[in-house]
Amino acid sequence: MDYMNGPGRHHLFVPGPVNIPEPVIRAMNRNNEDYRAPAIPALTKSLLEDVKKIFKTTTGTPFMIPTTGTGAWESALTNTLSPGDKVISFLIGQFSLLWIDQQKRLGFDVDVIESEWGKGADLEAMGSKLAADTAHNIKAICIVHNETATGVTNNLATVRRVLDHYNHPALLLVDGVSSICALDFRMDEWGIDVALTGSQKALSLPTGMGIVCASPKALEASKTAKSVRVFFDWNDYLKFYKMGSYWPYTPSIQLLYGLKAALELIFEEGLDNVIARHARLGKATRLAVDAWGLKNCTQGEEWFSDTVTAVVVPPHIDSNEIVKRAWKRYNMSLGLGLNKVAGKVFRIGHLGHLNELQLLGCLAGVEMILKDVGYPIKLGSGVAAAAAYLQNSTPMIPSRI
Ligand SMILES: Cc1ncc(COP(=O)(O)O)c(C=O)c1O
Repeated sequence: MDYMNGPGRHHLFVPGPVNIPEPVIRAMNRNNEDYRAPAIPALTKSLLEDVKKIFKTTTGTPFMIPTTGTGAWESALTNTLSPGDKVISFLIGQFSLLWIDQQKRLGFDVDVIESEWGKGADLEAMGSKLAADTAHNIKAICIVHNETATGVTNNLATVRRVLDHYNHPALLLVDGVSSICALDFRMDEWGIDVALTGSQKALSLPTGMGIVCASPKALEASKTAKSVRVFFDWNDYLKFYKMGSYWPYTPSIQLLYGLKAALELIFEEGLDNVIARHARLGKATRLAVDAWGLKNCTQGEEWFSDTVTAVVVPPHIDSNEIVKRAWKRYNMSLGLGLNKVAGKVFRIGHLGHLNELQLLGCLAGVEMILKDVGYPIKLGSGVAAAAAYLQNSTPMIPSRI
């Protein structure tokens, strides 16, 4: 009985899937419905309008696809590009690596710009490549906004500035899987052509819905893109949007009602307040890590992620042991170190429907585990640093105080 569930609540602190709020769970606890009856198209129509708000777009066209983040990647790529197209992609961690692998397997000519894990995308290198590409052979820039494996957030406004500086027409395709609805994200303002997320991250829903949003330029590109696509073809959706029935195939009724409830919570709190809450929880976590005398995997303040913190452990400690101990002894889930940083880091996910006291509980658990594995820590040091900051900084929902 190594992994028996202990009493009380499980503390889920992986950077997705995240905790599902009770109102969302209740909204999803319902029977199936006929998706061709009038209620579901009406619900879908209003959801399509509402999801645009989380991308901060008025001109984008959203697609809610029964898939995960990986499917959303494929949808973004295959609808806008043709086999052999040259794309620039940044390798900065496990998720950008997986996306690059998908890009290669789909037949694109991927020019990889690699950074040390813990650093952000090398935008100077991108600038040099764009400057040299006077023939405009580069068709797209693919970038993971928030690299969940290392806790690195890239600066998308700068990506757009560099593209504009060289007057380069490449499409900007952005993975916002662990950023949208938690970090500052402005699709229209930053000229993002395709943005995508997955339901199990900051939206705090079950896994199973990939939301992809296409700019008018991306929709135009989809008319000539030659990549083979069937399940992910935006055209099928657009046909059904026109007819007013919205679904080319069967949607998850429960996820649609869950999304409605999740968006209601987000809009009630205010999207910008949600983003500010993540900033506070991110900062509090980093203060705790400092107080423990441990290092953040992220190698520069400008890249600090407010949704996930990857904590580097001393060389004599195996971070996998920390994650295992969290399961076995404390009924808590922390994120493993992945690939290059396996055994070297553990990750604290602080995204989604989460509050200060939940985070402090997690930090207290991490302290006990660190002590268990022989790290010389003063119990309460990180919790105190985080609590002092949280208590003194602006509360998350001013209207409720
Ligand atoms: C940044 C990022 N992109 C893509 C994915 C892949 O998403 P999924 O596992 O839903 O396919 C993840 C998963 O954690 C992720 O963090």
